[in-house]
Amino acid sequence: MLKKIILSLSILLMLIGCGGDNAYESTESTSTPITPTPTPEVSTQLTKAELGEQLFFDKNLSLTRNTSCSTCHDPDHAFMDTRFKATDANQSIFMHGALSVGDDGVSLGGRNTPTAAYAMFSPEFNATTVVGGQFHDGRAATLKDQAMRPPLDGAEMMMPDEESVIERIKENTEYVTAFKNLYGDTIFEDTEKAYNAMGEAIGNFEKTDLFAPFDSKYDVYVKCKEDGGKTSACLQAGNWSVDEQLGMDLFFSEANTNCASCHQLQNTSEVSGETFSNYKFENIGTPKNLATIKARFDLGQGESEVTDHGGLAQGAADGAIKVPTLRNVAVTGPYMHNGVFADLTTVLEFYEHLRGAGNKAINPETNAPWGETDVEDTINHELLQQGVELTDRKIEALEAFLKTLTDAKYESLIP
Ligand code: HEC
Ligand code: HEC
Repeated sequence: MLKKIILSLSILLMLIGCGGDNAYESTESTSTPITPTPTPEVSTQLTKAELGEQLFFDKNLSLTRNTSCSTCHDPDHAFMDTRFKATDANQSIFMHGALSVGDDGVSLGGRNTPTAAYAMFSPEFNATTVVGGQFHDGRAATLKDQAMRPPLDGAEMMMPDEESVIERIKENTEYVTAFKNLYGDTIFEDTEKAYNAMGEAIGNFEKTDLFAPFDSKYDVYVKCKEDGGKTSACLQAGNWSVDEQLGMDLFFSEANTNCASCHQLQNTSEVSGETFSNYKFENIGTPKNLATIKARFDLGQGESEVTDHGGLAQGAADGAIKVPTLRNVAVTGPYMHNGVFADLTTVLEFYEHLRGAGNKAINPETNAPWGETDVEDTINHELLQQGVELTDRKIEALEAFLKTLTDAKYESLIP
């Protein structure tokens, strides 16, 4: 449905574009053209982002033609992989959706699929400050670099090499025309250039508003505040609840929770455009996910190939995971880089445990202690211990606030 709307929108835009061209030609028509200009096909009008959109949804870029980017990053579900849930049979294989299944139907990646929504706001990876990039460990510097990896990933789209991906692209005449128009007639003479072009087009699509509508309840609240209460948005913001307000106050309060020291991009709180991540890498001591067959020792940033620990002492980045956005977090479980927690409440209770709350020593999902993490030494206790122990009422309020970060179109998915 969503895709249909976008397609018709793109067609509309193309028509508008054509209108402009005709108007231009008519002023030139006084001089007789020697050869008539051929009418361009509709597909030749594709922008890079529109080409990227088609590639994002195209299963032909995978080995058995069963997997596209959207298989694991479903736009109807906040760009998450929702194929396997706790309610499915065979959960022991599919890990309650903690890990994604590759194109062969059996291969599993080693980490939980993050949302691709709002990913455009992670800055290009900076090896000196060790900030930004894509993936849980930041190993791809940009969206373009990221988009070039899944087709060749042995547990994702599983194509053998760049050339075979380009061959699949060349099967589609619309793609061929669009690539030549956008990247030059000789683009297919150089496989690497063509492959880079594919990455750029997909990356451009991921920078469109579809991935960042900023229309959650929180955004409505903030816009109302910024407009001094004058706009119609304020009428809707009227149903901002006491719990949501309390949760937001707690979230942005250094004295109470300190969440914002990692989950805030801008200097000022409660402003438009906040993505709820500073895009740094932190170790918060996430327990190993022993439920997954693929449970592995994960060094996070420390095993990323883009940086030799960014100049930090060897090992300082070990166990550090890129602070995730909290946009749409209520509908993007399971949580953490390894999908170890199914429920948002569990994540919040885990933070209480990290702060030292004696009554939160047990993981409510396993009824056992939280369990060991991959790398103990680099846990950021200093930031995690700040704040006060929260009552259960306050934890509920924090969760109510996190739910307001859900884009309008996903509100119905909130559990
Ligand atoms: C089989 C499932 C699967 C497929 C197919 C897939 N992804 Fe992903 N995606 C993942 C997983 C898992 C990660 C995290 C991997 C990691 O951090 O090591 C990820 C990470 C990402 C990220 C990084 C988000 C962030 O916040 O760091 C982006 C962006 C992304 N994928 C886009 C794409 C695009 C574009 C495609 C198609 C070219 C694609 N994915 C295909 C599973 C998938
Ligand atoms: C020291 C930095 C830091 C602080 C402080 C912090 N977080 Fe996090 N948060 C992280 C990192 C890093 C992750 C990812 C950990 C992982 O994947 O193993 C994370 C993950 C999460 C997740 C799961 C997101 C997902 O998509 O899997 C939620 C929810 C969350 N944090 C909320 C909060 C709240 C609420 C607070 C305050 C009570 C808070 N965080 C405080 C760094 C921090």
